[in-house]
Amino acid sequence: MNGVTEKPRILLIGKQGQVAWELARALAPHAQLVAADLPELDLNSPKLIATWVKDVRPHFIVNAAAYTDVEKAEDESELAMAINGTAPGLLAQAAKAIDATLIHYSTDYVFSGDAPKNADSLGYTESLQTGSINVYGKTKQAGEAAIKAVSGKYFIFRTSWVYGLRGKNFLLSILRAAQTRETLNVVNDQIGTPTWCRLLAEMTTGVILKCQDPEFLESTTGLYHLTGKGRTSWYGFAKSIIDAASFAHDFKVKEILPVPTSAYPTKAVRPAYALLDCRKFEKTFNLRLPHWEKSLKEAMSEFSIDCLAP
Ligand SMILES: NC(=O)c1ccc[n+]([C@@H]2O[C@H](COP(=O)([O-])OP(=O)(O)OC[C@H]3O[C@@H](n4cnc5c(N)ncnc54)[C@H](OP(=O)(O)O)[C@@H]3O)[C@@H](O)[C@H]2O)c1
Repeated sequence: MNGVTEKPRILLIGKQGQVAWELARALAPHAQLVAADLPELDLNSPKLIATWVKDVRPHFIVNAAAYTDVEKAEDESELAMAINGTAPGLLAQAAKAIDATLIHYSTDYVFSGDAPKNADSLGYTESLQTGSINVYGKTKQAGEAAIKAVSGKYFIFRTSWVYGLRGKNFLLSILRAAQTRETLNVVNDQIGTPTWCRLLAEMTTGVILKCQDPEFLESTTGLYHLTGKGRTSWYGFAKSIIDAASFAHDFKVKEILPVPTSAYPTKAVRPAYALLDCRKFEKTFNLRLPHWEKSLKEAMSEFSIDCLAP
């Protein structure tokens, strides 16, 4: 790629997903963008992956597609592993064959949830041992390993609690529940950091722009934690969501009650405390990450009741 004059050619995978939708928006002015999704590009098909990469010959492959249903993954572990564990390795191989860079997203769920709690700790750093406690996390862990094993150029961005105003996510679920229920019980003993999908898209775009300098790209390729700043519980997040939305809309909900995880048994065990320390990302790319509450306010300033249409 001529780093100075040519816009990078980017193959974006998973164009209907919440992160991919924002990526398409953020990348469009800066790239020759080819976006693909199911069924034409199915990550469960090694042949389709190879064909797409060969045909598009991108400088960057941005993989925002994944099997993201944490509960269903417990029952569909083979399919989840094919999409989250095997396909990323095939994408990395295809990228390496044409000297392209793979950008891929992973999750705080690769950790068990025992992040360091000492006073100066901001959570798990990239060098700490993974150890997922559910199928989804294990498949994402396998995907990371598969990419690293290829030894090509890649960025893996581990993120957490992703939300936006479209698609499937906690924010929309809480607002929909608030339309019909007076009391919401929300788990208060799982701690993490909400991350607006637009933040991920803008930060990814920032990295790609900086990586038009091939030397910078070569020296920074690797694994990074990328979330908003700060921490909260699902209960704290739910309260902030309702506060932000109630200014503009009348919801039925009257109270939000904190409950322990044990009150809501699920098939997939969730990590209790999986904060990601993002200092490596900020330092390497000289990009500042906002506090999650600031991002939430910005996101909710675009909220309209139409966002809750089925
Ligand atoms: N959401 C979170 O809270 C969260 C947290 C941490 C990390 N992440 C990671 O962030 C990335 C983006 O997640 P997201 O929240 O944007 O997920 P999302 O909204 O669920 O989007 C994922 C997209 O992948 C598509 N997909 C599923 N199977 C596919 C296949 N076999 N081939 C091609 N596409 C397929 C989905 O299509 P269908 O909808 O038709 O299935 C969907 O459009 C993922 O890597 C995810 O693991 C997400």
